[in-house]
Amino acid sequence: MTAKASAATEFFAPRPGGQGARDWDPVPDAHKVPFTWLDGACVPTEQAVIPIMSYTLHYGLGVFEGIRAYDGDKGPAVFRLREHIERLFRSARMVRMDIPYSVDDVVSGCVELMKQNQLRAGYLRPIAFVDDGKRGLGASNNRVRLAIATWPWGRYLGDEGVQRGIRTQVSSTVRMNARSFLPKGKINGQYVNSILAKRTAQHAGYDEAILLDDGGFVAEATGENLFLVRKGALVTPPLSQPILEGITRDSVLQLARSFGIEVREERFSKETLISADEVFLTGTAAEVTPVREIDGYTVGAGGRGPVTEKLQTRYFDAVHGRIAERLSWLTTYQLAS
Ligand SMILES: Cc1ncc(COP(=O)(O)O)c(C=O)c1O
Repeated sequence: MTAKASAATEFFAPRPGGQGARDWDPVPDAHKVPFTWLDGACVPTEQAVIPIMSYTLHYGLGVFEGIRAYDGDKGPAVFRLREHIERLFRSARMVRMDIPYSVDDVVSGCVELMKQNQLRAGYLRPIAFVDDGKRGLGASNNRVRLAIATWPWGRYLGDEGVQRGIRTQVSSTVRMNARSFLPKGKINGQYVNSILAKRTAQHAGYDEAILLDDGGFVAEATGENLFLVRKGALVTPPLSQPILEGITRDSVLQLARSFGIEVREERFSKETLISADEVFLTGTAAEVTPVREIDGYTVGAGGRGPVTEKLQTRYFDAVHGRIAERLSWLTTYQLAS
């Protein structure tokens, strides 16, 4: 390694103490699946490549989704697949991208890909991107293409994180606002905002960053919505804040209401956050992950609180097909034997 390369590695490497190092590991071979869906069909993964001058690569204008499939009591099933694909199309509409497929096509593409790869569980990543063609920001008629990738993925914030909770930093990076960006869209380039916050948190030895909005209210984490528990009630920022309309957030709200837990969607600031009884994050990748520390403050008793545990257990029951009233959230499929 040259001196320059090693200095760069040191500069970027997360400090010991956090779990961030995992994200910097290259994708292990075991994660490489034989097939990827591209432009309407499953193709061998090594053939699923895109031109270097793709507009999306240069300017970040693309839209994507993150979806999980679980091997549960009803067999393999994708969780809330249609809602994710509908959000993909809403994101595309926000940035004037016309995806040349229907919601049904993309739903079937996801299922087909899991089957072709013989995957009973895993993460699905549909991405609509703008191809090469005309060059420059103003190119508006380049072909919109769609790919779906998949890979087996464990706990995004670690097994220990799901059980004991993670350590977080309230970021100095502010969550983008809706005057400049489209916080309700899952738009590729917008994730630079999240990545800046995440890298700074990892570098300081934390697992994850929590972003405030430009009014100083708590918005969300870098790829997760945020909940707190105060005197037995569940509180989360409302959708009028610049947050993603998370599908896990919605699932947890529905599960909490069905338990009779008081639920409030209201704004709160950092002082309410750090004095909460419990805090947890929700997201397709992160599932339901407790927060045990914020900026060095211990949250509650410093682990997974009782309300978090109850909702986390219920969430895992739902995704694994163990709750009769929630089976409509699953798209089951069968693998050829
Ligand atoms: C910025 C952001 N917030 C929240 C979430 C959680 O959304 P969901 O529960 O739909 O995965 C995600 C993940 O997609 C995200 O990227």
